[in-house]
Amino acid sequence: MSKHLLDLNDLDSDGIRELLHLTDLFVEVSQRPIPKVPALRGRTIAMIFFEDSTRTRMSFDLAAKRLSADVLDFPTHTSSLSKGESLQDTVETIRALGVDALVIRHGSSGLPREVAEGVGETISVINAGDGLNAHPTQGLLDAYTLCQHFNEVAGSNASLSGIHVGIVGDIKHSRVARSDVAAYNALGAKITIIAPSALQPDDVQNWPVEVSDNLDAVLPNLDVVGLLRIQKERMGNDAVTSIADYIECYGMTEARANSMRPEVVITHPGPVNRGIEIADAVLDKRPNVLVNKQVTNGVAVRMAVLFRMLGSGIEID
Ligand code: CP
Repeated sequence: MSKHLLDLNDLDSDGIRELLHLTDLFVEVSQRPIPKVPALRGRTIAMIFFEDSTRTRMSFDLAAKRLSADVLDFPTHTSSLSKGESLQDTVETIRALGVDALVIRHGSSGLPREVAEGVGETISVINAGDGLNAHPTQGLLDAYTLCQHFNEVAGSNASLSGIHVGIVGDIKHSRVARSDVAAYNALGAKITIIAPSALQPDDVQNWPVEVSDNLDAVLPNLDVVGLLRIQKERMGNDAVTSIADYIECYGMTEARANSMRPEVVITHPGPVNRGIEIADAVLDKRPNVLVNKQVTNGVAVRMAVLFRMLGSGIEID
């Protein structure tokens, strides 16, 4: 495996399974009275977030600290980038400080890969979400959460075979959808993406999925409904229906949730637009809504990723 994690499409099924199985070990660590191991003592990880984040940033931070690494926060708004320093020179400066890994979120698709190509194999680059392109740790944590729900653990041969996942909403602008599809497909799930045509990706014929614009027609067949956030910040000029029409056709309203088998699982990567993708009552009261479980598992998944990228040859403890 490369020193970098940029896109789940760079990994084969075994590479994804290896990270999910490692996550089992870090879920166990996270449940200890003192959920901390010395595995990455002496390593330094820089958090470089050019876009806002709550879940990803805090869980990478917590993951690094639970592995006993030092964390360096890069202040994107007050750094010397504002004086005209190039990102390339900034990365070179961070590397010269002795950092072992860069965790990068950026609005430009492909920027973490450019950084990785610049640093070669000297330090690790981990993509924490780039534009519309990829959010690999979200894909891993979503897949892990489903494996855990259906099989208790991922195990060494993690599988979602026999599970039909519907991914609903703004697929076109969603890096989460792209990484979820990569992870679910690697584990053998059947995937249907469900969106109005304006929110379907232009190259959807190349995706390993079925496509529908009719949630109510597909809903009875699904084991998992993966809701996505309406991403107003990425929509540009793509005209969608009104929010009211969107809710009527694609929102997880109480009526729609009540029509589903109780065992059907609902996921959402967050942050949630309450009352749009999902009704308050469904989010707060329905069983098998795994939103908080996804967040919890995000820490163990990111521990697994950091350990895999930086901890070669080291015992977890
Ligand atoms: N799911 C996700 O990436 O959330 P944040 O933007 O809060 O990190």
